[in-house]
Amino acid sequence: MAIHGRTRACGYTGDAEYDTIAAVKTEANIPIIANGDITTPEKAKFVLEYSKADAVMIGRAAQGRPWIFREIDHYLKTGKHLPPPEVAEIHQVLKAHLEDLYAFYGERTGLRVARKHISWYTKGLINASSFRHRMNQLETVKEQLDSVDEFFAQAARASNFLQYEHNQADTPLIAEAA
Ligand SMILES: Cc1cc2nc3c(=O)[nH]c(=O)nc-3n(C[C@H](O)[C@H](O)[C@H](O)COP(=O)(O)O)c2cc1C
Repeated sequence: MAIHGRTRACGYTGDAEYDTIAAVKTEANIPIIANGDITTPEKAKFVLEYSKADAVMIGRAAQGRPWIFREIDHYLKTGKHLPPPEVAEIHQVLKAHLEDLYAFYGERTGLRVARKHISWYTKGLINASSFRHRMNQLETVKEQLDSVDEFFAQAARASNFLQYEHNQADTPLIAEAA
């Protein structure tokens, strides 16, 4: 059973609390999966140790960042951080994701659903806000794919790794409560 440690009234505001998950874990005889506001490998380790849950589940922090699963897995196994994915890999993952969206939703709806995913993949990157603005005006799959290719080709020419504004590459996408 997966437990999101938060009341319905809280919505997504505030930090999830893990005491309830820990309390349920002491009583239940079925596997318990902890969920809510897990955004970094360190947070995953903390929640697993604090709640004694059998696993963690990641929601919003995986949006535009699907490699978070291998990063958490590696950190839990070794205590060390994996290097961030290279621009070329992110480009490839995003392209495959876009093709899946077009295939699943059809081109018209897929194009629109894809906009928010492209925004998540490029969140915080240098030059990304003007790119996102232009990208959101495009009305065909071909134009959308071409604009993504152009953005990532430009990023790859600048560096093997994505360049974030405010050096936020290692900071979580979702603010954590102190
Ligand atoms: C796009 C999206 C879709 C979701 N769909 C469901 C759903 O169908 N059923 C459900 O129980 N929770 C759903 N959730 C809630 C998540 O499973 C999770 O409990 C919540 O996002 C908190 O975890 P997080 O802080 O890691 O995002 C969804 C969340 C998001 C962001």
